[in-house]
Amino acid sequence: MSKEQRINFSSKLAVVAAAAGSAVGLGNIWRFPYELGQYGGAAFLIIYVLFVVLLGMPIMLSEFIIGRMGQSDTVGSFRKLAPGGKWWIIGIMGVITSFLILGFYSVVAGWTMEYIYQAIANQFVSKDTATLTQVFVDFSTDTFRPIIWLIVFIIISAGIIMLGVKDGIEKSTKFLMPLLVIIIIALGIRAVTLPGGSEGLRFLFQPDFSKITSGVVLSAMGQAFFSLSLGMGCMITYGSYISKKNHLSHTVVEVTMMDTLIAVLAAVAIFPAVFSLGINPGFGPELVFITLPNVFAQMPGGYIWSILFFILLCVAALTSVISLMEVIVAYLVEEIKLKRMTATILVTIIILILGVLASLSIGVWKEVKIFNMGFFDLFDSITSKIFMPLGGLLISVFTGWVLSKKSIREELSTHGKFPTRYYNAFIFLVRYITPICISLVLLNQLGLGKWLGLS
Ligand code: PFF
Repeated sequence: MSKEQRINFSSKLAVVAAAAGSAVGLGNIWRFPYELGQYGGAAFLIIYVLFVVLLGMPIMLSEFIIGRMGQSDTVGSFRKLAPGGKWWIIGIMGVITSFLILGFYSVVAGWTMEYIYQAIANQFVSKDTATLTQVFVDFSTDTFRPIIWLIVFIIISAGIIMLGVKDGIEKSTKFLMPLLVIIIIALGIRAVTLPGGSEGLRFLFQPDFSKITSGVVLSAMGQAFFSLSLGMGCMITYGSYISKKNHLSHTVVEVTMMDTLIAVLAAVAIFPAVFSLGINPGFGPELVFITLPNVFAQMPGGYIWSILFFILLCVAALTSVISLMEVIVAYLVEEIKLKRMTATILVTIIILILGVLASLSIGVWKEVKIFNMGFFDLFDSITSKIFMPLGGLLISVFTGWVLSKKSIREELSTHGKFPTRYYNAFIFLVRYITPICISLVLLNQLGLGKWLGLS
């Protein structure tokens, strides 16, 4: 697609809604609270926020710059900006990462649809934690039911992708994002007013640093990349649709703040309730699906709240899945020259295969292990703990050391139109701080930190 023809998001609101729609998802509402619960609450939260500011913001800005300068999909953007080099491999890594994330993400997205159904059918009432746990285990380990929901979910996402950037992504996210914010604020207000909820807030906001290990630090970093959709070309692809009229750094600040706020709000909606009911905060991936139905069953108006909550979760998943699919579809359309329709169908089939593998690995294929993990855990772990940080590292090196400083400044200021007071700080971050920080966390996890005398 030539420079002149490339489609742009039509307004500033549309840009923020689409990028925030990608960032805000199951990562905020399903993954963040259970990681927080497992890794000790407030201490994890502090490290997480530190990574969001130190790594997340500069990398998101780098991705937007690369995409808008390259005016192409994630592979094509690197090809155009560094012709003859091998940097486009970062883009290929991003396409592979997108597939792997979609493999487990769409399974959980399918679960949210089952829970909308259960909420509407009023199935949470008068069930205790043990029964609700059994309901979740029976459902998630079932061979067919999760796969049927997976198929429904993927087909809806594919439909939106086929409609394209303007009609599909833009229209749906502009409507869905504000809805999501309203519902989660309402849920948060309800939760903090539950009796005994204050203990949950203490868990969230009073740090205990003795819980921090190298694994916890790596998880917090992985969660920051995952939650902000970074390190795999998603924001490069969306960046290429941002018009020159938009202020990139403002968009970064707005999207990061909104993403972090929603993750914290989700935790505020979940933990006071968890403590109020005496549920173990370290439950794991089941947390949302077991504890919240329990909470809903015992709160006034719980029927409506439960339906709203699971619709919210499903909507959040949908806008993220769309962005993941767009990374791959844009690549197939622009580099491989497939038609948008053909590319979408191909991607849908591959995601379904990966999704079935991930879903079965929780149930009948529990024993099938690769690197000691089932497919679901494998897709989740290698993407957020290896591929995304590694992608982020390479993206910041590319921005800091390969792109010319002058061209970055011009891109950020749209040829002098916007002020760029933060420019020097940004260059310093992407040149030194971000790559060093990611390398240290990765090395530390591999045990090399000890060997090098770093920890
Ligand atoms: N950021 C999404 C979430 O928090 O649920 C997940 C995600 C979407 C990751 C898009 C990566 C991506 F490219």
